[in-house]
Amino acid sequence: MPQSASKPFIDVLSGQRQAIPPMWMMRQAGRYLPEYREVRAKAGGFLDLCFNPELAAEVTLQPIRRFGFDAAIIFSDILVIPYALGRSVRFEVGEGPRLEPLDDAAKIATLAARADFSKLAPVFEALRIVRGALAPEIALIGFCGAPWTVATYMVAGQGTPDQAPARLMAYQHPEAFAEIIDVLVDNSVEYLLAQLTAGADALQIFDTWAGVLPPAEFARWSIEPTRRIVEGVRAKVPDAKIIGFPRGAGAQLPGYVETTSVNAVSIDWTAEPAFIRERVQSKVAVQGNLDPLVLITGGTALDRAIDDVLANFGQGRLIFNLGHGIQPETPIAHVEQMLKRVRG
Ligand code: CP3
Repeated sequence: MPQSASKPFIDVLSGQRQAIPPMWMMRQAGRYLPEYREVRAKAGGFLDLCFNPELAAEVTLQPIRRFGFDAAIIFSDILVIPYALGRSVRFEVGEGPRLEPLDDAAKIATLAARADFSKLAPVFEALRIVRGALAPEIALIGFCGAPWTVATYMVAGQGTPDQAPARLMAYQHPEAFAEIIDVLVDNSVEYLLAQLTAGADALQIFDTWAGVLPPAEFARWSIEPTRRIVEGVRAKVPDAKIIGFPRGAGAQLPGYVETTSVNAVSIDWTAEPAFIRERVQSKVAVQGNLDPLVLITGGTALDRAIDDVLANFGQGRLIFNLGHGIQPETPIAHVEQMLKRVRG
């Protein structure tokens, strides 16, 4: 379906600052919305919801209908890639993801080289449904996890405070660990290309755990695999718009931007504004970076924090977002307050 209308979100990624920054929120389809909780309850498990095209499309559209955000992000998870690689992946209520740990070289040697993409067909179908239902000026974002972050869950089998199991494996068995990373790079390229074909207008690569790595390891395990994914996608779709989110990368953001060639970086709330303006926003668009906890707080604290984001980054290419996902306890009225203040 041709989409000729201009999309402010895509315009920013293409290099054109918008007077009113386009906005969306990471985890915008989620438990803070009663309509999400209702669908979630009837879907069964979390993965059942991800792999039900009609329901996944419905929850993707809910925050667009309610708030009129400039972008929808397809409802899925970064761990669908290990799932399609044949690993066991479960989501325990209140505990987060559980995988069979890939914790020694012998197990890594049995890792499949290629995902069974037919298992991900419902995600592509959900993208087609959403693109067909969205107004042409609203962008649709596809995504994957960065290899480092996905590997941290595959190795440990779960989230941990600092992803020590994967860091240890990367130090102790770098060749074996590189095999996991290589499989994830290849399959992420194929997955992202299929999402573009199904109707995604832009892609985001989530590297939630980038910030636990020292600089040399960050270059090897976060920057380099992400660079290869961007290169692989653009080999087939040269103008593919890609946002990187190396959470906690801090002083390493300029190197990340330069080497990966992403169109934008998503920054968290700890980012130093002058540094970001001079070393990052001068090269690419910036997305962020309201602290999700101030969105829970609301009131004048929220107004002040929103004004700070706009004062810090509003003169350049900005996509207004949170610095990480919205928390389930966030009042809906505070999201409305944010939209009103940003849009004026
Ligand atoms: O942003 C969106 O609205 C799109 C959907 C989306 C989800 N997960 C849905 C989800 C996206 C983009 C993700 C990415 C994701 N998943 C990341 C990277 C971004 C980030 O937040 O750091 C990571 C690390 C994961 C892995 C994951 N999935 C964890 C650690 C958890 C448990 C934590 C939690 O919030 O419960 C999930 C589950 C998950 N993924 C939920 C949602 C809405 C909550 C599950 C539920 O509703 O029952």
